[in-house]
Amino acid sequence: MQILSFPQITPEIKQLRVAVFHLEQNIPERILFDENDSSASTTHFIVFDQHPVASCRARFYNNDVKIERFCVLKTSRGQNIGRKLVDAVQNHFPKFKLVISAQLSAEKFWEKNGFVREGEEHREADIPHVQMGRKL
Ligand SMILES: CC(C)(COP(=O)(O)OP(=O)(O)OC[C@H]1O[C@@H](n2cnc3c(N)ncnc32)[C@H](O)[C@@H]1OP(=O)(O)O)[C@@H](O)C(=O)NCCC(=O)NCCS
Repeated sequence: MQILSFPQITPEIKQLRVAVFHLEQNIPERILFDENDSSASTTHFIVFDQHPVASCRARFYNNDVKIERFCVLKTSRGQNIGRKLVDAVQNHFPKFKLVISAQLSAEKFWEKNGFVREGEEHREADIPHVQMGRKL
């Protein structure tokens, strides 16, 4: 398994987002990509396990690093790939607190990775979310 980071989004990362968020979760494709993908404050991460299996982006947000578009391909879940990706982001930004607007359905995953609730539940893309963060 290999985790790489890039200053720009790649075709493989686009495909992973579409597979998980659009085809699986029915989120409209147009809101999966935005200006933050090409911002200088964004780093893109991708996990390869023979082929691309997971990705996310991380960007400076206030004084923290915000994780977004975090996804593991359905067929690759339950193998600690998500956990390794979170660790890779933290290792890339060792001095920064990580924050996320987490899908409620994934809250336990984030808790298991040391994140705690830091805000109210809200809806994004018509999906319940909650603000979470991980103290350094
Ligand atoms: C949520 C997601 C990222 C988890 O990825 P994953 O690679 O399967 O997670 P891991 O294998 O690293 O799991 C780590 C731990 O979290 C647990 N976990 C993972 N997803 C979970 C979930 N949805 N609910 C409860 N626990 C979960 C695992 O059981 C494991 O626990 P353990 O250490 O006690 O065995 C993945 O299911 C996914 O991409 N889902 C669809 C998109 C999504 O929801 N993204 C997150 C947006 S905030």
